[in-house]
Parts: sequence; C-alpha cells; structure tokens
Amino acid sequence: MKTPRFEVSQETKLTDYQITQYEENPLNRKFEDKVVLITGAASGIGRETAVQLAKEGATLFLSDVNEAGGQETVDMITSKGEKATFFKADVSKADEVKAMVEACVTEYGRIDSAFNNAGIEGSSSRMVDIEENIYDAIMDINVKGVWLCMKHQIPHMVANGGGTIVNTASVAGLVGSHSLSVYGASKHAVVGLTRSAAVEYVRKGIRVNAVCPGVIRTPMVERGFEHNPQFVEATLKANPMRRLGEADEVAKAVMWLMSDESSFTNGATITVDGGFTAQ
Ligand SMILES: NC(=O)c1ccc[n+]([C@@H]2O[C@H](COP(=O)([O-])OP(=O)(O)OC[C@H]3O[C@@H](n4cnc5c(N)ncnc54)[C@H](O)[C@@H]3O)[C@@H](O)[C@H]2O)c1
Repeated sequence: MKTPRFEVSQETKLTDYQITQYEENPLNRKFEDKVVLITGAASGIGRETAVQLAKEGATLFLSDVNEAGGQETVDMITSKGEKATFFKADVSKADEVKAMVEACVTEYGRIDSAFNNAGIEGSSSRMVDIEENIYDAIMDINVKGVWLCMKHQIPHMVANGGGTIVNTASVAGLVGSHSLSVYGASKHAVVGLTRSAAVEYVRKGIRVNAVCPGVIRTPMVERGFEHNPQFVEATLKANPMRRLGEADEVAKAVMWLMSDESSFTNGATITVDGGFTAQ
C-alpha cells in the first residue's frame, strides 16, 4: 500500500469551496493565516472587502454598530468554510474600540492588517445649513473613530513586529466638494492622520495608507441618490468613466495596500475614482 505523502488531519481538511478556490488559482490565497480587522463591515465597501479577503484565505475580525448586518457578513464568509467573527463596537467610543481590538487579539492572537473603514456621510447641505450635532457626529465617527482605531491597533502591531493599516478617506478628502463640506473636512483629516501615522510608525514595521474612493455603488450612496435624484446624472457626468465604482474595485486596492506587494507604499492616498480627481 502506498503511504500518502502528507497526512491531513480531519480539522485541516479543505472544504469544497476552498478546493475550488485553490484549483482556480492557488496563488490567490495570499492572505492565508493573516488576521484582518475591519470596521464598518456590515455593509458596502467594508463587507465587500471582508468577502474578497476571505476568498484569499484571511481570518476576519469584523466590527460595526449594525449587529444584524455584521452577522450577515460573517455568515456570507463562514458558509463558504472561511473564518470570520463579529464584534459590535461604535468606533467613536474609546472604551468600545479598546474592547474591539483586545477581543481580536484574544481571539486570534494578533492583528496583521486593519481596515479602518466605518464612516457616515451626514446630510448633504451647504456649509451654513449644517447643524452642529451633524458636524459632531461626522467628526466623531469619521475622524475620532479612525484615530481611536489606530491608537489601539498600533501597540499590538508593534509588539507583533509590524502590520499594515488602511484607512478609508475619500476623494472628498483630497478636493473640495459641494454640499459635503464637513464630510470633506473629516476625510481630509483622515488623510492627515494616515500620513502622520505612516511617518511615526514605519520604522516599527507598520505601513499606513489611505484609500480614496470616488462615488461607489453602496447603501451610503443609494441613500444619497434617493434623497437627491438629480445627483445621479450629475455624478455620472462628472466622472470621466461615466459610471459609478463598485465596492469590489475598492476592495482590490485595499487588499493591495495591505499586502507585501505594496511594500514601498506608505502614507499614500490611493484614489479609486475612475479619474475624477485627475480632471
Ligand atoms: N460609497 C462611496 O461612494 C464612498 C466614497 C468615498 C468614501 N466612502 C467611505 O467608505 C466607507 C464605507 O462606506 P460605504 O459606502 O460602504 O457605506 P455604508 O453605509 O454602506 O457602510 C458604512 C458602515 O459603517 C458602519 N458605521 C457607521 N457608523 C459607525 C460607527 N459609529 N461605528 C462602527 N460602524 C459604523 C455602518 O453601520 C455601515 O455598516 C465610509 O468611511 C465612507 O465615508 C464611501
């Protein structure tokens, strides 16, 4: 009787889905054994990035304020035999962010990459019409949230010898936007935090970059289109590609920034906008 070359224990046997993934392209599982934490994972760009990373073998620690949506993302991943856990946390609350990061380290032992992506759009109005409570909510979630996440993630990454962080900014973090002044200011701040973190921590083995999506077809944008239908045509006209972006197009850029393939990219703002900011 022939002795098998490798003994595969019951627990390490691959599911049919994983075998198909390997057979389609074995090099695709380049996040195998990598622990990735994602905020805003219940919807849109965060969810799609989680799903794409799972296809490449990542172990996902997913967080959001929306528990039902977060659990749905986990189910999308675990039903394929991949690994994901959900932890409910509001990124604007220091104690919740600390607990989220600690829970990830307790569960999986480390954080290799983080995608600090949770964010809100606020209302679309001219600067003088924006209410103070909307200003505070946008700044608390979009800016303080990203800062709190990095504040708690970085010490674990340093202790573990390094890691990669991708923050979600926006094209509104690079140029002025009509009726989105506070949102735009919050995303400019995300770019600022990203650049400073990149300079402060690269010699500790941590690269920090920002992804700057243009208008991407997600529930956030669909909400905006519902409130303001003429915005659809104006958005398409304003883009050189005359279309919206898709969440998986952002996910691919995020995954490149997380991976060793972007080893000399640090403190960068990578636009995924069809050329909108190139005009
Ligand atoms: N869709 C776009 O066109 C676009 C463009 C540029 C940037 N962005 C940015 O991309 C990110 C994701 O947006 P999306 O389009 O996927 O939107 P989305 O609304 O589909 O997803 C955002 C997620 O963040 C979560 N969230 C909101 N507040 C939170 C909080 N306090 N704590 C934890 N989670 C919270 C929501 O529950 C939701 O699941 C945001 O930062 C957004 O500003 C989106």
